[in-house]
Amino acid sequence: MKALVTGGAGFIGSHVVDLLLERGWEVAVVDNLSTGREENLDKRAVFCGGDVCDAVGLDAVFCREKPEVVFHLAAQTNARTSLKVPAEDAVTNLVGSINVLECCRRHGVRKVVYSSSCAVYGVPVGLPVKETHLLAPVFPYGCSKRAVEDYLWVYRELYGLDFVALRYANVYGPRQDGRGEGGVIAVFADRISEGAALELKGDGLQTRDFVFVKEVAEANLLAVERGSGKFLNIGSGKETSVNEVVSLLSRLSGRVPEVRRGPAVKGEVRRMCLGVSLAKEELGWSSRVSVEGGLLETMEWLNKGRGR
Ligand SMILES: NC(=O)c1ccc[n+]([C@@H]2O[C@H](COP(=O)([O-])OP(=O)(O)OC[C@H]3O[C@@H](n4cnc5c(N)ncnc54)[C@H](O)[C@@H]3O)[C@@H](O)[C@H]2O)c1
Repeated sequence: MKALVTGGAGFIGSHVVDLLLERGWEVAVVDNLSTGREENLDKRAVFCGGDVCDAVGLDAVFCREKPEVVFHLAAQTNARTSLKVPAEDAVTNLVGSINVLECCRRHGVRKVVYSSSCAVYGVPVGLPVKETHLLAPVFPYGCSKRAVEDYLWVYRELYGLDFVALRYANVYGPRQDGRGEGGVIAVFADRISEGAALELKGDGLQTRDFVFVKEVAEANLLAVERGSGKFLNIGSGKETSVNEVVSLLSRLSGRVPEVRRGPAVKGEVRRMCLGVSLAKEELGWSSRVSVEGGLLETMEWLNKGRGR
């Protein structure tokens, strides 16, 4: 079978590519390398370059590669950037996604597996956050992710293009860039491995639902055959505080980092944990990797010099 992975040179996308190749798929990748890296990519994948905002170029890729299934991950992924430049966020995340859907429709793609986000929920009313929770994003990033979900629904109704939208919690693991504004685990793991101090915002009691990237890739593949027209949470279903992350990282690395505490980020969600029973029901997927196990693998990757 042939898959097209948009954003396939990125953190999560490259793990989706690896798993597809491992399962015998042919894989083509569209990625403008704005945050992704070619070295993340297995050489067996056909790298097409390209930009999802370039409708004509994208159509040419679909013509040539004729994918049966599309995994759409290409995106502007930073919520804070979406506050600074909301129109740019919307161009990449919304217009780019519509371009992908139009290509899928025109070229008879069977199914789209879309990388959505728990950012569509905004501030949780109660925990765990189930798929029935109010959709009330608090960042433009969450608005664009939510809008794409609506388009997916419309394309399924109008054109019979099947989809699954996976609403990820906080994904972490090898190949996540901790040198930019990556997730807290990537940044802290990176700094601890370099013996640098950690900048902790707030009291560290804020919690997140951390899910290991290889399990997220597995959910993407399961969504090819299961979960028609569904919006599904993909998380561990557990809360882990930032302080717990720091102590686990320091135990696993054998280093006690200097922690510099600063003021909490205004408007930051205090606690997050996803309800994950629907993914189990629909995909037969659930997270089994503990945060400790996932952190160990992430630290090993860092210690090996970030290689494939
Ligand atoms: N990492 C997380 O915790 C998380 C959580 C929720 C949702 N997501 C979603 O998962 C997807 C993958 O995120 P990631 O964490 O791997 O980030 P990433 O930045 O590593 O991956 C995004 C990829 O898309 C590419 N890209 C960006 N704009 C593009 C464009 N216009 N055309 C073509 N390629 C483009 C980038 O070069 C990069 O390779 C995104 O859709 C993101 O919104 C991630």
